Amino acid sequence: VKIFDQPGMMREQLDHLRAESKTIGFVPTMGGLHEGHLSLVRQAKSVADAVVVSIFINPLQFGANEDLDAYPRKLEDDLQQLEQLDTDMVFTPTPDTMYPLGLEAQTKVLVPDLTTVLCGASRPGHFDGVSTVVCKLFNIVGPNTAVFGQKDLQQLLIIKRLVADLALPVTVIGHPTTREADGLAMSSRNTYLNEDQRAIAPTLYQSLSEAVEAIKNGSRDYPALEKGALTTLEKAGFAPDYIEIRRSTDLIRATEADEDIAIFGAARLGTTRLIDNIVVSTG
Ligand code: PAF
Repeated sequence: VKIFDQPGMMREQLDHLRAESKTIGFVPTMGGLHEGHLSLVRQAKSVADAVVVSIFINPLQFGANEDLDAYPRKLEDDLQQLEQLDTDMVFTPTPDTMYPLGLEAQTKVLVPDLTTVLCGASRPGHFDGVSTVVCKLFNIVGPNTAVFGQKDLQQLLIIKRLVADLALPVTVIGHPTTREADGLAMSSRNTYLNEDQRAIAPTLYQSLSEAVEAIKNGSRDYPALEKGALTTLEKAGFAPDYIEIRRSTDLIRATEADEDIAIFGAARLGTTRLIDNIVVSTG
């Protein structure tokens, strides 16, 4: 695996591949890699000649009181895992190279509407940081295809909108969530959980799954299903942020008439904020 930390060098290497008509697959990450990330890399490998993974803990997407400093940093381990998958290139820029004039002075890419609900409501500015860094990474790497996890379904929809609105020449693929045996969605933040919290954590997925079962059995009382899941989470010891059933295409609140919907959940266990979602078709 070849490692680059300078955008110019990264782009130059990829220009060589492009000159040979090779296609480039891209998986942007913040490191702390787990099996979920590795499945994105495998997917990228299956659709492109060469795969680039970026590892960049993007300060622009963290709020003032969030976990930027605590976010898992384990570059050696990440590189080893990528090496084992035969990843072609890894891009590891620093905040200074990505934001040489500082975060405040950085030009930003703002996707409307989709960014203000769900996690966007509780983490103001978060998705502006995500769309800005992803746009910038796309411009450096120039991938034909980029793969994102469906665990962050809101992020995936925002990136698809960004790509469509700015006519970026990238195909964005969503990859299904990788789960632990007990259903917990894999996340770098799971490493924050202590033993007791880890035992409770799968309740988030269970509460969403119960609502989905009810929907599949014909229930369309979405407020009641949301309330039921919130109660389950509170009883288990979570401090829920939201449980909401929305359209899986544009994140508008779901009504009985909508067929493509998803249930989204975010909840805290101690200081750790976990998110998950399940997509359902009622058609
Ligand atoms: O999902 C993530 O890890 C990040 O939000 C991303 C897409 C790498 C942007 O920093």
